[in-house]
Amino acid sequence: MAAGQKQKRKKNKKKTTRTKSTAPIPALVPAEAFKDGMRRLAAGVTIITTQHDGELGGLTATAVCSLSAEPPQLLVCVNRTAAAHNIIDRGERLCVNVLARGHRKLAARFAGQNGIFGPERFRAGRWTSLTTGAPALTDALVSFDCTVSEKLHASTHTIFIGRVVDVRMQGNGKPLLYASGEYASIQALVAAMRRKRNAARKTGGKIKPV
Ligand SMILES: Cc1cc2nc3c(=O)[nH]c(=O)nc-3n(C[C@H](O)[C@H](O)[C@H](O)COP(=O)(O)O)c2cc1C
Repeated sequence: MAAGQKQKRKKNKKKTTRTKSTAPIPALVPAEAFKDGMRRLAAGVTIITTQHDGELGGLTATAVCSLSAEPPQLLVCVNRTAAAHNIIDRGERLCVNVLARGHRKLAARFAGQNGIFGPERFRAGRWTSLTTGAPALTDALVSFDCTVSEKLHASTHTIFIGRVVDVRMQGNGKPLLYASGEYASIQALVAAMRRKRNAARKTGGKIKPV
């Protein structure tokens, strides 16, 4: 490395260190403000399933994200209190089933919103399995079947990184979304936003989130 370059690196390193040590650590925003903000982030809805040693688990989840295409990987964030968490942790396999707009009731069921827990949840919907044995919803828009390659503990949640070993796609159904604490289709969300905007125009008021 040229002497000039070395000098530059040294200078940059010094700068970073100084900023870290002297900048005050900002206080966190209240959890309610964070949750209010996140409600405005419309998300696709999935059911994450798992199966290990005869135990079945599943939960509704929106914290699912594509990580890389080569290798094909995704990540999911699962609360450590979720019954499926320990099954995923032990078996290191999971299937992410992306829901269509007709799956509202199934989404509520797997979120525990009607008091149904454990393997009983799988009594609704039609399920098969792909490569790992985790349940795959036959009419999901897509099912990503994964083996878990990494687990990152992050406060209340574990981030599971899944390597996609199988994928099954179904037709061109419309996705189910979740925003402002409600399940909705894209069309319903757009219509609701229009209604709110028109109402706000008439009253000269602020637009409330849908
Ligand atoms: C729309 C929606 C999205 C959710 N997303 C997640 C998520 O990404 N991760 C998570 O751990 N829980 C999520 N939950 C909560 C779980 O679905 C819920 O706590 C579930 O009941 C956990 O399973 P258990 O009852 O078997 O413990 C979500 C709930 C809803 C309604």
